[in-house]
Amino acid sequence: MLLREHFPQLAAWKVTLIASDISEAMISRARAGAYSQIEVNRGLPAAMLVKYFRRIDGEWQVIEDLRRAVEFRRINLTAPWPYLPAMDLILMRNVLIYFDIPTKKAVLARVRRQLKPDGHLFLGGGETTMNLDESFVPTQYGKAICYRPATRLAA
Ligand SMILES: C[S@@+](CC[C@H](N)C(=O)[O-])C[C@H]1O[C@@H](n2cnc3c(N)ncnc32)[C@H](O)[C@@H]1O
Repeated sequence: MLLREHFPQLAAWKVTLIASDISEAMISRARAGAYSQIEVNRGLPAAMLVKYFRRIDGEWQVIEDLRRAVEFRRINLTAPWPYLPAMDLILMRNVLIYFDIPTKKAVLARVRRQLKPDGHLFLGGGETTMNLDESFVPTQYGKAICYRPATRLAA
């Protein structure tokens, strides 16, 4: 939705969106793309609801065109990752919080290898790479902080 709204110039690009979780149940839920009224009331602008969702069996379902644009995969972040393409953007929100420090470091090292040198990593509001992985540099974007590979700055 955000790419379509804010980056219409990407319409002619081949953009690969990969969504992952360790839980098969969560993958199924995400693939279905169906949300209750309470869930869509938590911050989704009404204009986006009307444009990108359809009312089905008492729920709001993301339109098929968008659902088909996402590849859903079961991946355990703490085990060796399967082959994945190099990424421009990684959104990894509220999952590092579950891991101990050595595991956080190992996961961030994998993220770093997967992220392109000019890529961006976004974490949850209570998460950071600081004191865990100095190969990321925090960068402020408005009210948000994202993490960018330090090698980009050195180059
Ligand atoms: C608090 S939820 C966050 C979901 C979503 N990122 C968000 O911010 O709304 C944490 C998710 O991490 C997943 N998770 C927990 N351990 C994981 C692991 N080792 N690898 C991949 N996903 C994991 C859980 O199944 C759960 O769906």
